[in-house]
Amino acid sequence: MCMVIFAPLFAIFAFATCGGYTGQLRVSVDCVNKTDSNLSISINFAYPFRLHQVSFEAPVCEGRRNERVFLTGDFSSSAEFFVTIAVFAFLYSLLATVVYIFFQDKYRENNRGPLIDFIVTVVFSFVWLVGSSAWAKGLSDVKVATDPDEVVLLMSACKAPANKCGSVYGPIWSGLNTSVVFGYLNFVLWAGNIWFVFKETGWHKPGTQRYPASASEKQTTNFNQQPSFNQGSFDQSGGAYSPHGGLGQPSDYRQGGGPTSFSNQM
Ligand SMILES: *[C@@H]1O[C@H](CO)[C@@H](O)[C@H](O)[C@H]1NC(C)=O
Ligand SMILES: *[C@@H]1O[C@H](CO)[C@@H](O)[C@H](O)[C@H]1NC(C)=O
Repeated sequence: MCMVIFAPLFAIFAFATCGGYTGQLRVSVDCVNKTDSNLSISINFAYPFRLHQVSFEAPVCEGRRNERVFLTGDFSSSAEFFVTIAVFAFLYSLLATVVYIFFQDKYRENNRGPLIDFIVTVVFSFVWLVGSSAWAKGLSDVKVATDPDEVVLLMSACKAPANKCGSVYGPIWSGLNTSVVFGYLNFVLWAGNIWFVFKETGWHKPGTQRYPASASEKQTTNFNQQPSFNQGSFDQSGGAYSPHGGLGQPSDYRQGGGPTSFSNQM
């Protein structure tokens, strides 16, 4: 039930916070010749973080001339991978919910629904972990590449010590930090759901079916002088005792056997 509510929601948070991001930083170039300076150069960037395509005009501090400067790095692969996972996880969790609610009998047919669900859930858990880790690494690289103190080093004017270059402000990272957190939360959610989907597959059922057999063995050792009595007890009906009523302690046996098999089934 948690899955139904949180999986689509967490997926939306993950792709909205990453895919919808736009950031801005601002630097200043204070030339020796003050008239050439630009004290407010703003640089905008956004998802998918192809920073090598992001450029801005900066003064070269030689007359009024400007140069076009490009940021460095392409972090689109990890960002796009992350958003793609989130979109597919969102779609799958919606589809799974619809199938589970409205096509319950089709879902259980040949046990195929639970089987597919189990495999897909395992795959998504793994992919969430990989994607979140890759994106966490990508984000830390984006932070370095858009750090105003690093961007300043890209401008030729700033290589001359006479000109003073500095940071006005840097990008706000809370949105992207949130996307990484939601990536890992999605991993935890999907990984935790593996157990519940596994139960649906019925693969643990053979174990359940063994319980009466093992209980029978146990009781056979306790009452091995009365093997036919033990078999009768598993009819779970009082009538089963009547042929053996004369053997004594049937009520003791029933009280002793009941809790044992009950606790086994737990
Ligand atoms: C400074 O750079 C910005 C772009 O970031 C530009 O819009 C503005 O006109 C420039 N100012 C001067 C004085 O050149
Ligand atoms: C400063 O720049 C102006 C115009 O860009 C120029 O006329 C002047 O000679 C320059 N001064 C120096 C010291 O370079």
